[in-house]
Amino acid sequence: MQALIDTQTGTLEALKVQTVATPQPKKNQVQIAVRACALNIGDYQRFIMKNNRIPLATKVTNKLMGYVGKPLGAEVAGVVTAVGAAVTQFKVGVAVFGKTAGTAPTGGLAEYAILNQGEVYQKPTNLTFEEASCISISFETALGAVRKASVKSGQTVMVYGASGGVGLYVVQLANAAGATVIGVCSTRNLALAKASGCAQVIDYKTQDFTKCLTRFDAILGINGYNPMRKYKPLLKPHGIFVGGG
Ligand SMILES: NC(=O)c1ccc[n+]([C@@H]2O[C@H](COP(=O)([O-])OP(=O)(O)OC[C@H]3O[C@@H](n4cnc5c(N)ncnc54)[C@H](OP(=O)(O)O)[C@@H]3O)[C@@H](O)[C@H]2O)c1
Repeated sequence: MQALIDTQTGTLEALKVQTVATPQPKKNQVQIAVRACALNIGDYQRFIMKNNRIPLATKVTNKLMGYVGKPLGAEVAGVVTAVGAAVTQFKVGVAVFGKTAGTAPTGGLAEYAILNQGEVYQKPTNLTFEEASCISISFETALGAVRKASVKSGQTVMVYGASGGVGLYVVQLANAAGATVIGVCSTRNLALAKASGCAQVIDYKTQDFTKCLTRFDAILGINGYNPMRKYKPLLKPHGIFVGGG
């Protein structure tokens, strides 16, 4: 099959379309014909340079994950073409989505990809392959954060990083749980955060979020831009802070 291969750590020039063996599913795996692939933050983080150098953390991660020599692309949607002997939930021909991330991933920028059985989901018919391809990793991260915070109807919740891949899902999930959401993001994304369900949006470029007068049942910090001490005064007495991502 043809695939976009990560041939070397750290440089975009090392991405090459190559012909490689079609990956075959192991006992608990599903092989799909890829119809759409989304790039996740984990994909582009492999290529971030600092002072013209590849950060040590990137080198170590790439080595541990077995990225080099494998296709790029962590999130996919497609049609099942083969299943391992222990797979009972999915049959050939079913439209699915999921993540290829994991040790020695067979990434999604390829004709075929392999997904672990527990990380494959049937594609809802009202979603296109493109839409379904960008759900799995960022959505599950968001869901984990919202569940950890036990967001409930009637609560007031702050989502710091409300305009990002994870934050946009957090905003929607908190809304679906019945909470009122105040988001924090930058000027260029205020409208996006609002359209996703924020009742109010604080622009971290022009406003100091620590001056916010609202007190929150939960604050979900979907990035590591602030220390805990900045969030604590904004919480109600039994409020909870959850760092997501
Ligand atoms: N995406 C995933 O699937 C995933 C999975 C696991 C873990 N994570 C981790 O979760 C975190 C968020 O990931 P993401 O994919 O949502 O990232 P992202 O799409 O880049 O979003 C980052 C968010 O943080 C805001 N932000 C950026 N720079 C900021 C700054 N200097 N000060 C304050 N806020 C700033 C952004 O707002 P503006 O863009 O409006 O500036 C945006 O709302 C990262 O730490 C990531 O490693 C992500």
